[in-house]
Amino acid sequence: MSETKEHKHDTTGRAYGRQRQHANTTLTEVGPGTPCGELMRRYWQPVGLSSKATAVPQAVRILGEDLILFRDGAGHAGLLYSRCAHRGTTLYYGKVEERGIRCCYHGWLFDVEGNCLEQPCEPNGGAHRELARQPWYPVEERYGVVFAYMGPPDRQPALTRFDILEDLAPGEYLEVDDQSWAAGVGGTMPVVPHSWLHHYDNIMDPFHVQVLHSTFSGTQFVPEFAVMPKCDFATTDTGMKYVAHRKLDDGRIVDRVSQSLLPNVRIVPNTRLEDGRATEVAWLVPVDDTHHRIIHIAKVTGPGRFTTRIMYNGKRWPEMTEEEHQRFPGDFEAQIGMGAISLHSEEHLATSDRGVAMLRRQLEQQIRTVAEGGDPLGVAFDPEKAVVKVESGNYFK
Ligand code: FES
Ligand SMILES: [Fe+2]
Repeated sequence: MSETKEHKHDTTGRAYGRQRQHANTTLTEVGPGTPCGELMRRYWQPVGLSSKATAVPQAVRILGEDLILFRDGAGHAGLLYSRCAHRGTTLYYGKVEERGIRCCYHGWLFDVEGNCLEQPCEPNGGAHRELARQPWYPVEERYGVVFAYMGPPDRQPALTRFDILEDLAPGEYLEVDDQSWAAGVGGTMPVVPHSWLHHYDNIMDPFHVQVLHSTFSGTQFVPEFAVMPKCDFATTDTGMKYVAHRKLDDGRIVDRVSQSLLPNVRIVPNTRLEDGRATEVAWLVPVDDTHHRIIHIAKVTGPGRFTTRIMYNGKRWPEMTEEEHQRFPGDFEAQIGMGAISLHSEEHLATSDRGVAMLRRQLEQQIRTVAEGGDPLGVAFDPEKAVVKVESGNYFK
């Protein structure tokens, strides 16, 4: 900074003249052709709930791409590029029919694989309509969620299963939710207005539980979390995990295990500290570089997981005043506080950030693997091998 050269070097830490800072764009950018975007595209990503794939077209923005999700009259879910191959209006205004979706403008009809079946304004219904293939992505449905594979066709893996979501006992059912953050705290926020990476970092940050959720704001989950944990971090064959050991005031010892699966899956145990394995899997799905959505699948009995919770002063989260959000911040406030994308160059990672540093290193390694033509961690092509045995849980000793 030439204009500051004439001033004496400041050693008092004032804000004046500080360096311009930047994000780690290798990890935050998710659009087509970006390094992390290409990693994300090597895994099936949830695009919406099966119940919302209907005859009414849904606009889905994911990994910086605008797509249209629908279900044709034969029951097949379809995911097409939104701009019509003819002259580019959006298929959002299209009409879903037995065989596909018909564009509102000139009536071209596309099936779920983008084949153009009809061009009503053309001679003979369009003699060359096969040239107008609408870009499409394959989808598969499982657990009540529509998953899409947006990567190179020759590297399409099997869709992962999770053992905790299979073999439901009598009375158990799967609850799915796409209303993101506020699901557990009484509001809705289908799109979270910040980078997916803030949230992914948070999964391998067990120390904030003691501060943010227990002592700074007061009890947000259970009083036992006020004990500072001793944490071990380790890589796994699908990502990484931590084990947070706590010796509770009543003498009990509990190990809390959380997992992050590459590239954007979190499996965390229940925050009620009940004994046993986790019952929920969630994807932090990048909408684009500055927004993400959370899609949860939870195994539940009785009332659902995503029921309204009172947060503060008898209020649900969306009813709190600005000052109450300041007095009682939770994960949303801490993460939106970093801005739409954090400035990683000015961070001061410390010993409590071991998990975050490992997680980012792991992402960077897998980004390199993909860039060099390899298959990233956790991807399986044989459906028999595409099963995750979940380790996450609260384990009392
Ligand atoms: S723009 Fe879609 S049919 Fe003309
Ligand atoms: Fe948290």
